[in-house]
Amino acid sequence: MNLSTTYLGMMLPHPLVAGASPLSDDLDGVKRLEDAGAAAIVLRSLFEEQITREQMAEFANLESHADSFAEAASYFPSPHAFALGPSQYLEHLRLVKEAVRIPVIASLNGATPGGWIEYARLMAEAGADALELNLYRIATDPETTSADIERQAIETVRAVKKAVTIPVAVKLSPFYTALAHLAREFDRAGADGLVLFNRFYQPDIDPEELAATRTLHLSDSSELRLRLHWMAILSGRVQASLAVTGGVHTALDIVKATMAGAHVTQMVSALLIHGPVYLGTVLDDLSVWLQEHEWHSLAEMRGNMSLLKVPDPDAYERANYMLMLQSWRA
Ligand SMILES: Cc1cc2nc3c(=O)[nH]c(=O)nc-3n(C[C@H](O)[C@H](O)[C@H](O)COP(=O)(O)O)c2cc1C
Repeated sequence: MNLSTTYLGMMLPHPLVAGASPLSDDLDGVKRLEDAGAAAIVLRSLFEEQITREQMAEFANLESHADSFAEAASYFPSPHAFALGPSQYLEHLRLVKEAVRIPVIASLNGATPGGWIEYARLMAEAGADALELNLYRIATDPETTSADIERQAIETVRAVKKAVTIPVAVKLSPFYTALAHLAREFDRAGADGLVLFNRFYQPDIDPEELAATRTLHLSDSSELRLRLHWMAILSGRVQASLAVTGGVHTALDIVKATMAGAHVTQMVSALLIHGPVYLGTVLDDLSVWLQEHEWHSLAEMRGNMSLLKVPDPDAYERANYMLMLQSWRA
């Protein structure tokens, strides 16, 4: 069965990629992912705050400005909260590149335009085959407009593209007003791939302790639907290759994502639950499903559910919304 695909200009034997997660924090984990058949791996994100913290710590030591450092750093998680510090991250990336033959995608989450550039370059120098820019950001300031946020995000992509020659993918949030337009702007800024979607931190409230609680829930296949919807909207409308992350658990999830237009599907929760060997099970299931349904390759179904085939997508979306509401029967 021909499962091959192209993502960020890289030829891959199949679309199943291990997404950014702790699974690739050590060499053993990375090798297990490769042995289990991952087509590529994304390392977890390095956060700009980690970099700033390391630089600020050096500044505090050198200049004896410990007090101002302590105040400015009071919101940052302690360095122990991170599995890999900035220098360790680059060293880990180098070692991972030596240890495996599959493409390795490094991930960076910056907070300021300048903050992205240097580390994007260092990651490329350390051998990353591509970069994934994790644009996770919660805009809490009511004075900040959607146009400001989008402009900054686009400038970031443009600046990183200028700084490196390796492909750059952008991991997006679903919470933009005009996502189709923004996706096209990323495309114009040179993004080689769009990754749909980041999962957002959704705090709960502990009413006894009067505290916000952080719990990391793993996904299930129901999360895929938001991704399928937007993948089908964007497929064929951007040059960038398209990746789904979020809710990919089964072979059928991969089939649906591919029909919506995905070039690759990233998996994290399913691998944390079942272990890397689960990749092999899903790939076997995928081949069997395609054979049983008389498909010869994944490529021939890619994007066949794209909304490009619909003459008036806005009206189509609205009609489906109304029909969905009318479909409920007590
Ligand atoms: C424990 C854990 C750590 C993660 N770390 C990162 C990260 O560092 N950077 C990132 O972009 N996404 C990170 N993610 C998000 C995943 O890459 C992925 O987008 C998300 O879990 C949705 O995919 P899934 O449904 O297959 O889990 C993390 C997810 C989990 C569960």
